[in-house]
Amino acid sequence: MEGKKNLPPTIIFIFGGSGDLTNRKLIPALFNLYLDNFLPEKFVVVGVGRTTFASDDEYRAKLLEGVQQFSRTKDGNGEWQKFAERVSYHELDLLNTDTYTSITSWVNDKAKEWNTQPNVVFYLAVAPQLAPDIAVKLSEQKLCLDSKTRRIVFEKPFGHDLQSARELNKLLSTMFAEDQIYRIDHYLGKETVQNILAFRFANGLFEPVWNSNYIDHVQITAAETVGVEDRGSYYEQAGALRDMVQNHILQLLCMIAMEAPISFDANEIRNKKVDVLNAIRKIDPEDVHANTVRGQYSGGWLKGKQVQAYREEKNVNPQSPVETFVAAKFYIDNWRWRNVPIYVRTGKYLHEKTTLVTVHFKEAPRYSFPPEAAETWRPNRLTFSIQPETSIRIRFQAKRPGPNMILNPVDMVFNYAEAYGGYEPEAYETLLADVIEGDPTLFMRADQVEAAWKVITPILEAWQNRMPIDFPNYSPDSWGPEDAEALIARDGHNWVSLPSSTKKE
Ligand code: BG6
Repeated sequence: MEGKKNLPPTIIFIFGGSGDLTNRKLIPALFNLYLDNFLPEKFVVVGVGRTTFASDDEYRAKLLEGVQQFSRTKDGNGEWQKFAERVSYHELDLLNTDTYTSITSWVNDKAKEWNTQPNVVFYLAVAPQLAPDIAVKLSEQKLCLDSKTRRIVFEKPFGHDLQSARELNKLLSTMFAEDQIYRIDHYLGKETVQNILAFRFANGLFEPVWNSNYIDHVQITAAETVGVEDRGSYYEQAGALRDMVQNHILQLLCMIAMEAPISFDANEIRNKKVDVLNAIRKIDPEDVHANTVRGQYSGGWLKGKQVQAYREEKNVNPQSPVETFVAAKFYIDNWRWRNVPIYVRTGKYLHEKTTLVTVHFKEAPRYSFPPEAAETWRPNRLTFSIQPETSIRIRFQAKRPGPNMILNPVDMVFNYAEAYGGYEPEAYETLLADVIEGDPTLFMRADQVEAAWKVITPILEAWQNRMPIDFPNYSPDSWGPEDAEALIARDGHNWVSLPSSTKKE
C-alpha cells in the first residue's frame, strides 16, 4: 500500500447519510481509505438525512455495523474509533433551503478552524428523483461556486432515457462546470476493469492482434445470483437494460474496444471511450428482435432456496413486462472492429455470479496436423474474469504428453489474489479516492452518458412497442431464456463461463 498523499483539508457531505449505500459501500470505503492512509490529514465526513439518531455516537454505531458486515477489513484492527471521531450526523431535510444555510455556515466554521478553505464533496446518495432539486439548492446557495474545490457526486441512474439524461445534463451545465460533476459507474472502479487498459496498452504482445483480422468475436457476461431483492419499485422503472447494459456493460465494452489513448489525461481517456459508443451500430427497429433477447425470472429453486417469481416480488406489478435478463448482439462500425460481433448478456437469478469478458480469436489453420491430433482443437481465447474470480486467462493449444501428437486446449492463468497477496480495494474506494483528489478519469462525462443512451434507445423503443408475451421465460439457477442461447448459436458460437474446477465455492 502506498503512503499518504498531500491532500487539502476536505469535508465530505453524504446526502442520504442514513441510507443503504452509505452503510454498505461509502463508509466502508472511506474507512479503508483511512486505514490505507489515502485520506487527507484533515477531513470530516458529515452524514445528512431525515432519519433521527439520538446522537453522533448512535449514528457511528450503526455505521460500524455496516463496516463489520460489508468492509473487506471489518473493524480495521481497532482503528474505527479514531475514524469515527471525524464522522457526524445532521438530521436535515434536503429539500428545505434552510438546510443549505446550515451547511454554508458549517463549512465556514470549518474553514476558520482549519485556517484554510477546504475542499468540499457533496455525495448524493439519495433517490435519483431528488438529485436535480438538491443540485439546484446547492447552486442557489452558492455552495459550488469554486469549481476547483467543490465537487458533486451523482449515483446512477443518470436519466431514465436519452431525453431525460439530456435534460439533466443541461440543467447541471447551467449551474456547475463539467469537471466538478462526478457521475459514478462503479464498474469503472473495479481493479480488474481498470486493468484491461494496462493489459492492452502496457504490453506489446496483444495490441497488434487486437482487431478484426484476428478477433472473431467478443462476449461480455455480467451474471448475478441475486434477484431484485427489496428494490422492486426502482427496478420496475429500470429493467436490466437500463440497470446494467446502459452503463456497466457498455463501459466494459469501451475498455475492450477503445483506441490507445495518447495519455492518461481524464478527457483523453473519455474521448476514446465516447468514440466507441458513437461507433456502436444503432440497431434498426425492425432488427431489434433478431439481435436482442429479454427475459424475466419465474419462481423456483436457487442453490437450495425457494425463490419468488419477479412478478411476485414486493412493489412489482403482477403483470410486469420488465426484463430481468438481457442478451444482445452489437457491432462497432469502425476499422478495428468491422464485422466483429460483440455479444453481451446480463441477468438476475442466474446460475452463478460471474462477470467475464472473453475475446475469441480466429482459428489457426490446421494444415500441419492430422485430423485426429486436433479433435479437441479450439481457437485461442483471452478471458478477463472481473469477479468474483479476478484473473486473466489465455487459452492455447498444447501437445498432450505421450508418443502421439494429440492436442488439447490449456489455460495460462494470472490470478490477482495470488499475485498481489489478496490486496484488492473495493470499487468505491478507488472512486472516492479519485473524487477527493479531483481526478474524473473514471467517471462518466455528460456526452458519454448520452452516447450510451443512444445505443440502447432503439432497443427500449422496440420493446415498448411490443410487449413480451412469454414472461416469465427463465427459471432461477439457469443461464436465462433459451432464446439467448439461440442468439449466439445462430452464429456458430456458444456462451462461455469459467471452467468449473477454478470456481470458488
Ligand atoms: C448495480 C445495479 O448498478 O450493479 C444492481 O443497480 C446490480 O442491480 C449491481 O446488482 C451489480 O454490481 P456488482 O458490482 O455486484 O456486479
